[in-house]
Amino acid sequence: MSTTADALREEVRQRYAQAAATASAGRAACDCGGGACCEHVSGESGFGEALYDAEERGELPDAAVLASLGCGNPVAVAELREGETVLDLGSGGGIDVILSAKRVGPTGVAYGLDMTDEMIALARQNAREAGISNAHFLRGMIELIPLPANSVDVVISNCVINLSTDKPAVLTEIARVLRPGGRVGVSDVVAEDRLPAEDRAERGSHVGCIAGALSRGEYVAGLEAAGFEDVSVEFTHEVIDGMHGAIVRARKTETAGLPVIAPASKAGCC
Ligand SMILES: C[S@@+](CC[C@H](N)C(=O)[O-])C[C@H]1O[C@@H](n2cnc3c(N)ncnc32)[C@H](O)[C@@H]1O
Repeated sequence: MSTTADALREEVRQRYAQAAATASAGRAACDCGGGACCEHVSGESGFGEALYDAEERGELPDAAVLASLGCGNPVAVAELREGETVLDLGSGGGIDVILSAKRVGPTGVAYGLDMTDEMIALARQNAREAGISNAHFLRGMIELIPLPANSVDVVISNCVINLSTDKPAVLTEIARVLRPGGRVGVSDVVAEDRLPAEDRAERGSHVGCIAGALSRGEYVAGLEAAGFEDVSVEFTHEVIDGMHGAIVRARKTETAGLPVIAPASKAGCC
Protein backbone atom coordinates (compact mmCIF):
# COMPACT_ATOMS: atom_id res chain seq x y z
CA MET A 1 0.00 0.00 0.00
CA SER A 2 1.46 3.38 -1.00
CA THR A 3 2.00 6.22 1.43
CA THR A 4 -0.70 8.23 -0.35
CA ALA A 5 -3.22 5.42 0.10
CA ASP A 6 -2.22 5.02 3.78
CA ALA A 7 -2.59 8.77 4.35
CA LEU A 8 -6.01 8.81 2.67
CA ARG A 9 -7.20 5.87 4.75
CA GLU A 10 -6.04 7.58 7.95
CA GLU A 11 -7.86 10.76 6.93
CA VAL A 12 -11.04 8.70 6.41
CA ARG A 13 -10.61 6.97 9.78
CA GLN A 14 -10.13 10.28 11.63
CA ARG A 15 -13.07 11.86 9.87
CA TYR A 16 -15.46 9.06 10.79
CA ALA A 17 -14.14 8.85 14.36
CA GLN A 18 -15.18 12.50 14.65
CA ALA A 19 -18.60 11.70 13.14
CA ALA A 20 -19.06 8.92 15.75
CA ALA A 21 -18.27 11.40 18.54
CA THR A 22 -20.83 13.84 17.12
CA ALA A 23 -23.57 11.18 17.05
CA SER A 24 -22.63 9.97 20.55
CA ALA A 25 -23.08 13.56 21.77
CA GLY A 26 -26.67 13.54 20.44
CA ARG A 27 -26.13 15.49 17.22
CA ALA A 28 -26.58 14.30 13.65
CA ALA A 29 -23.25 13.13 12.19
CA CYS A 30 -24.37 14.59 8.86
CA ASP A 31 -24.60 18.06 10.42
CA CYS A 32 -21.05 18.13 11.72
CA GLY A 33 -19.72 19.87 8.62
CA GLY A 34 -16.56 19.51 6.55
CA GLY A 35 -15.61 16.22 5.11
CA ALA A 36 -18.24 13.59 5.86
CA CYS A 37 -20.22 11.85 3.14
CA CYS A 38 -22.96 14.46 3.35
CA GLU A 39 -20.71 17.57 3.17
CA HIS A 40 -21.96 18.47 -0.30
CA VAL A 41 -25.63 18.80 0.52
CA SER A 42 -27.79 20.48 3.09
CA GLY A 43 -31.41 20.20 4.17
CA GLU A 44 -33.30 17.55 2.18
CA SER A 45 -30.27 15.55 1.24
CA GLY A 46 -29.41 12.36 -0.57
CA PHE A 47 -27.49 11.21 2.52
CA GLY A 48 -28.23 10.04 6.03
CA GLU A 49 -31.38 9.29 7.95
CA ALA A 50 -33.75 10.84 5.37
CA LEU A 51 -33.27 7.68 3.29
CA TYR A 52 -35.08 5.52 5.87
CA ASP A 53 -38.84 5.55 6.33
CA ALA A 54 -40.49 6.50 9.61
CA GLU A 55 -41.23 2.86 10.48
CA GLU A 56 -37.57 1.88 10.11
CA ARG A 57 -36.38 4.89 12.11
CA GLY A 58 -38.86 3.91 14.82
CA GLU A 59 -37.11 0.51 15.16
CA LEU A 60 -33.77 2.16 15.96
CA PRO A 61 -32.12 3.90 18.92
CA ASP A 62 -31.76 7.66 18.37
CA ALA A 63 -27.95 7.48 18.28
CA ALA A 64 -28.05 4.93 15.42
CA VAL A 65 -30.29 7.25 13.38
CA LEU A 66 -28.12 10.27 14.20
CA ALA A 67 -24.99 8.38 13.07
CA SER A 68 -26.48 7.54 9.68
CA LEU A 69 -24.07 8.62 6.94
CA GLY A 70 -25.19 6.43 4.07
CA CYS A 71 -26.37 7.33 0.58
CA GLY A 72 -29.15 4.77 0.32
CA ASN A 73 -30.99 2.05 2.20
CA PRO A 74 -29.38 -1.30 1.32
CA VAL A 75 -31.58 -3.27 3.72
CA ALA A 76 -34.63 -2.18 1.72
CA VAL A 77 -33.19 -3.73 -1.46
CA ALA A 78 -31.42 -6.81 -0.06
CA GLU A 79 -34.64 -8.87 0.39
CA LEU A 80 -33.27 -10.51 3.53
CA ARG A 81 -34.80 -13.80 4.67
CA GLU A 82 -35.07 -15.49 8.08
CA GLY A 83 -31.95 -17.41 9.03
CA GLU A 84 -29.59 -15.69 6.60
CA THR A 85 -26.09 -14.43 7.43
CA VAL A 86 -25.56 -10.80 6.41
CA LEU A 87 -22.37 -8.75 6.36
CA ASP A 88 -22.39 -4.92 6.29
CA LEU A 89 -19.12 -3.41 5.03
CA GLY A 90 -18.29 -0.14 6.81
CA SER A 91 -21.11 -0.48 9.32
CA GLY A 92 -20.62 2.91 11.01
CA GLY A 93 -23.07 3.47 13.88
CA GLY A 94 -24.79 0.16 13.06
CA ILE A 95 -28.03 1.33 11.46
CA ASP A 96 -28.10 -1.27 8.67
CA VAL A 97 -26.76 -4.08 10.89
CA ILE A 98 -29.52 -3.54 13.44
CA LEU A 99 -32.22 -3.48 10.75
CA SER A 100 -30.67 -6.59 9.10
CA ALA A 101 -30.50 -8.46 12.42
CA LYS A 102 -34.22 -7.85 12.85
CA ARG A 103 -35.00 -9.04 9.30
CA VAL A 104 -32.99 -12.30 9.53
CA GLY A 105 -34.37 -13.05 13.03
CA PRO A 106 -32.85 -15.10 15.86
CA THR A 107 -31.80 -17.93 13.53
CA GLY A 108 -29.80 -15.50 11.37
CA VAL A 109 -26.73 -13.37 12.03
CA ALA A 110 -25.79 -9.83 11.03
CA TYR A 111 -22.12 -8.82 11.04
CA GLY A 112 -20.87 -5.24 10.82
CA LEU A 113 -17.28 -4.56 9.79
CA ASP A 114 -15.60 -1.18 10.34
CA MET A 115 -12.04 0.08 10.75
CA THR A 116 -12.88 2.94 13.13
CA ASP A 117 -12.85 2.02 16.85
CA GLU A 118 -15.21 4.85 17.75
CA MET A 119 -17.80 3.63 15.23
CA ILE A 120 -17.53 0.03 16.46
CA ALA A 121 -18.07 1.18 20.07
CA LEU A 122 -21.08 3.29 19.05
CA ALA A 123 -22.58 0.46 16.98
CA ARG A 124 -22.23 -2.06 19.83
CA GLN A 125 -23.93 0.37 22.20
CA ASN A 126 -26.73 0.98 19.69
CA ALA A 127 -27.29 -2.78 19.18
CA ARG A 128 -27.44 -3.27 22.97
CA GLU A 129 -29.95 -0.44 23.26
CA ALA A 130 -32.04 -1.97 20.46
CA GLY A 131 -32.07 -5.30 22.37
CA ILE A 132 -30.39 -7.14 19.48
CA SER A 133 -28.34 -10.24 20.29
CA ASN A 134 -27.66 -11.58 16.76
CA ALA A 135 -25.52 -8.60 15.64
CA HIS A 136 -21.73 -8.77 15.86
CA PHE A 137 -19.35 -5.91 15.12
CA LEU A 138 -15.86 -6.70 13.84
CA ARG A 139 -12.97 -4.27 13.65
CA GLY A 140 -11.11 -4.57 10.39
CA MET A 141 -10.66 -3.53 6.80
CA ILE A 142 -13.12 -4.18 4.02
CA GLU A 143 -10.06 -4.98 1.85
CA LEU A 144 -9.24 -7.93 4.15
CA ILE A 145 -12.50 -9.24 5.59
CA PRO A 146 -11.99 -11.21 8.84
CA LEU A 147 -14.49 -13.95 7.97
CA PRO A 148 -14.01 -17.38 6.37
CA ALA A 149 -14.67 -18.12 2.70
CA ASN A 150 -18.23 -19.07 1.69
CA SER A 151 -19.71 -18.02 5.06
CA VAL A 152 -22.11 -15.20 4.14
CA ASP A 153 -25.43 -15.15 2.23
CA VAL A 154 -25.70 -11.41 1.60
CA VAL A 155 -23.20 -8.54 1.58
CA ILE A 156 -24.60 -5.06 2.05
CA SER A 157 -22.82 -1.71 2.36
CA ASN A 158 -23.89 1.90 2.53
CA CYS A 159 -21.64 4.57 1.03
CA VAL A 160 -18.32 2.94 1.92
CA ILE A 161 -16.83 1.22 -1.13
CA ASN A 162 -16.14 4.63 -2.72
CA LEU A 163 -13.90 5.37 0.30
CA SER A 164 -11.64 2.37 -0.30
CA THR A 165 -8.21 2.93 -1.78
CA ASP A 166 -8.18 -0.63 -3.17
CA LYS A 167 -11.54 -1.43 -4.73
CA PRO A 168 -10.43 -4.58 -6.61
CA ALA A 169 -9.40 -6.05 -3.22
CA VAL A 170 -12.82 -5.19 -1.74
CA LEU A 171 -14.70 -6.84 -4.62
CA THR A 172 -12.46 -9.93 -4.48
CA GLU A 173 -13.01 -10.20 -0.73
CA ILE A 174 -16.79 -9.91 -1.15
CA ALA A 175 -16.64 -12.77 -3.67
CA ARG A 176 -14.52 -14.86 -1.28
CA VAL A 177 -16.80 -14.57 1.78
CA LEU A 178 -20.08 -15.04 -0.11
CA ARG A 179 -21.47 -18.53 -0.62
CA PRO A 180 -21.95 -19.55 -4.25
CA GLY A 181 -25.23 -17.92 -5.33
CA GLY A 182 -24.85 -15.32 -2.55
CA ARG A 183 -25.90 -11.77 -3.30
CA VAL A 184 -24.67 -8.20 -3.10
CA GLY A 185 -27.01 -5.27 -2.32
CA VAL A 186 -24.93 -2.13 -1.93
CA SER A 187 -25.70 1.58 -1.85
CA ASP A 188 -22.89 3.79 -3.05
CA VAL A 189 -22.06 7.00 -4.86
CA VAL A 190 -21.49 6.20 -8.55
CA ALA A 191 -20.42 8.50 -11.38
CA GLU A 192 -21.85 8.64 -14.87
CA ASP A 193 -19.43 7.04 -17.35
CA ARG A 194 -18.90 10.42 -19.03
CA LEU A 195 -16.98 11.73 -15.98
CA PRO A 196 -13.28 10.83 -15.87
CA ALA A 197 -11.65 10.52 -12.44
CA GLU A 198 -10.32 14.13 -12.56
CA ASP A 199 -13.86 15.48 -13.05
CA ARG A 200 -15.11 13.44 -10.10
CA ALA A 201 -12.29 14.86 -7.93
CA GLU A 202 -13.29 18.41 -8.90
CA ARG A 203 -16.79 17.81 -7.50
CA GLY A 204 -15.81 16.80 -3.97
CA SER A 205 -13.27 15.20 -1.65
CA HIS A 206 -12.34 11.56 -1.12
CA VAL A 207 -13.51 11.52 2.53
CA GLY A 208 -16.68 13.23 1.34
CA CYS A 209 -17.54 10.11 -0.75
CA ILE A 210 -17.16 11.85 -4.13
CA ALA A 211 -13.59 11.75 -5.46
CA GLY A 212 -13.18 8.00 -4.91
CA ALA A 213 -16.46 6.99 -6.56
CA LEU A 214 -16.37 4.45 -9.37
CA SER A 215 -18.24 5.06 -12.60
CA ARG A 216 -21.11 2.74 -13.49
CA GLY A 217 -18.98 0.96 -16.11
CA GLU A 218 -16.07 0.53 -13.69
CA TYR A 219 -18.40 -0.97 -11.04
CA VAL A 220 -19.89 -3.47 -13.49
CA ALA A 221 -16.48 -4.48 -14.89
CA GLY A 222 -14.98 -4.80 -11.39
CA LEU A 223 -17.79 -7.04 -10.14
CA GLU A 224 -17.72 -9.22 -13.24
CA ALA A 225 -13.94 -9.60 -12.94
CA ALA A 226 -14.38 -10.69 -9.30
CA GLY A 227 -16.78 -13.50 -10.31
CA PHE A 228 -20.25 -11.95 -10.17
CA GLU A 229 -23.16 -12.21 -12.57
CA ASP A 230 -26.55 -10.44 -12.91
CA VAL A 231 -24.73 -7.18 -12.13
CA SER A 232 -26.80 -3.99 -12.16
CA VAL A 233 -26.16 -0.40 -11.10
CA GLU A 234 -29.32 1.68 -10.74
CA PHE A 235 -29.09 5.43 -10.14
CA THR A 236 -31.61 6.55 -7.52
CA HIS A 237 -30.85 10.26 -6.89
CA GLU A 238 -28.29 12.75 -8.13
CA VAL A 239 -26.01 13.97 -5.31
CA ILE A 240 -23.94 16.35 -7.42
CA ASP A 241 -23.70 17.00 -11.17
CA GLY A 242 -23.16 13.64 -12.90
CA MET A 243 -22.83 11.66 -9.66
CA HIS A 244 -25.60 9.65 -8.08
CA GLY A 245 -26.68 7.64 -5.09
CA ALA A 246 -27.02 4.18 -6.62
CA ILE A 247 -28.08 0.64 -5.82
CA VAL A 248 -25.58 -1.98 -6.91
CA ARG A 249 -26.78 -5.57 -7.16
CA ALA A 250 -24.91 -8.73 -8.15
CA ARG A 251 -24.88 -12.48 -7.54
CA LYS A 252 -21.87 -14.72 -7.02
CA THR A 253 -21.94 -17.43 -9.66
CA GLU A 254 -23.29 -20.77 -8.35
CA THR A 255 -20.25 -22.59 -9.68
CA ALA A 256 -17.66 -20.19 -8.25
CA GLY A 257 -14.91 -22.09 -6.47
CA LEU A 258 -15.99 -25.52 -7.71
CA PRO A 259 -13.14 -27.61 -9.12
CA VAL A 260 -13.12 -27.78 -12.88
CA ILE A 261 -13.66 -31.40 -13.86
CA ALA A 262 -12.10 -32.41 -17.16
CA PRO A 263 -14.54 -34.22 -19.49
CA ALA A 264 -14.19 -38.02 -19.17
CA SER A 265 -12.21 -39.46 -22.01
CA LYS A 266 -14.14 -41.85 -24.25
CA ALA A 267 -13.41 -45.53 -23.48
CA GLY A 268 -11.11 -47.03 -25.98
CA CYS A 269 -10.38 -43.71 -27.51
CA CYS A 270 -6.81 -43.11 -28.66
C1 LIG B 1 -19.85 7.15 5.15
S1 LIG B 1 -19.70 6.20 6.60
C2 LIG B 1 -21.08 5.08 6.38
C3 LIG B 1 -21.45 4.35 7.64
C4 LIG B 1 -22.68 3.47 7.55
N1 LIG B 1 -22.57 2.49 6.48
C5 LIG B 1 -23.93 4.30 7.38
O1 LIG B 1 -24.67 4.09 6.42
O2 LIG B 1 -24.19 5.16 8.23
C6 LIG B 1 -18.28 5.20 6.22
C7 LIG B 1 -17.90 4.16 7.27
O3 LIG B 1 -17.03 3.21 6.67
C8 LIG B 1 -15.89 3.02 7.47
N2 LIG B 1 -14.78 2.71 6.54
C9 LIG B 1 -14.29 3.51 5.56
N3 LIG B 1 -13.32 2.89 4.86
C10 LIG B 1 -13.18 1.66 5.43
C11 LIG B 1 -12.32 0.54 5.17
N4 LIG B 1 -11.43 0.57 4.18
N5 LIG B 1 -12.45 -0.57 5.93
C12 LIG B 1 -13.35 -0.60 6.96
N6 LIG B 1 -14.19 0.42 7.26
C13 LIG B 1 -14.11 1.54 6.50
C14 LIG B 1 -15.72 4.32 8.25
O4 LIG B 1 -15.03 4.08 9.46
C15 LIG B 1 -17.18 4.72 8.46
O5 LIG B 1 -17.71 4.19 9.64
